[in-house]
Amino acid sequence: MNIQIDQKDFELLIEYDQIKKRIRLIGIQLEVDYEGRVPVFVGVLNGSFMFLGDLMKEVGISSEVTFIKVSSYEGDQSTGKIRKEIDLYMDLKDRDVIIVEDIVESGNTLKHVIDIIKEHNPASLNVCTLLLKPRKLNQDLEEITYVGFEIPNEFVIGYGLDYNGLGRNLKDIYRAEHVPTET
Ligand code: IMP
Ligand code: MG
Repeated sequence: MNIQIDQKDFELLIEYDQIKKRIRLIGIQLEVDYEGRVPVFVGVLNGSFMFLGDLMKEVGISSEVTFIKVSSYEGDQSTGKIRKEIDLYMDLKDRDVIIVEDIVESGNTLKHVIDIIKEHNPASLNVCTLLLKPRKLNQDLEEITYVGFEIPNEFVIGYGLDYNGLGRNLKDIYRAEHVPTET
């Protein structure tokens, strides 16, 4: 299925059914790994809101949630400059923290968030990201423990991810359509 968002063409990449199944499995893994603890999920706004909602429903153990907001993207390009827009309003000292991201590309945004959280001296710190573009990663981030899907180097939208602010409400994930190049 093809759609258009803000005059850009996108095609279906991952269906919601597949996303749900993957999240169920990650949820089970988190329940095992965090048994007997009360982890704090830190959602990275805006992109992670939908994933975080579905993920937390699949984690049956006691847990808390808080948010942080950073931004680096304009349109479909990362600017490289990361701004903190909403600060953490929870003390994470001695807590078991799970950062929840929509997507990790270069890893620069995540590195920034990890550094902010480490200043709180948490008991443990892991990252759960729905999507990972492994070929774009240029940071060595050992905290990335839970990954929903590894995807190619393509711009994607839907399920929380946006293009110029739009497309976050789509249930499925879409990738930017290939524009045939003349040779
Ligand atoms: P990084 O800093 O290069 O890892 O980029 C990560 C951030 O850029 C994510 O948290 C997203 O907000 C945004 N981003 C990266 N790739 C995409 C994409 O394909 N679609 C939408 N947003 C993206
Ligand atoms: Mg994000």
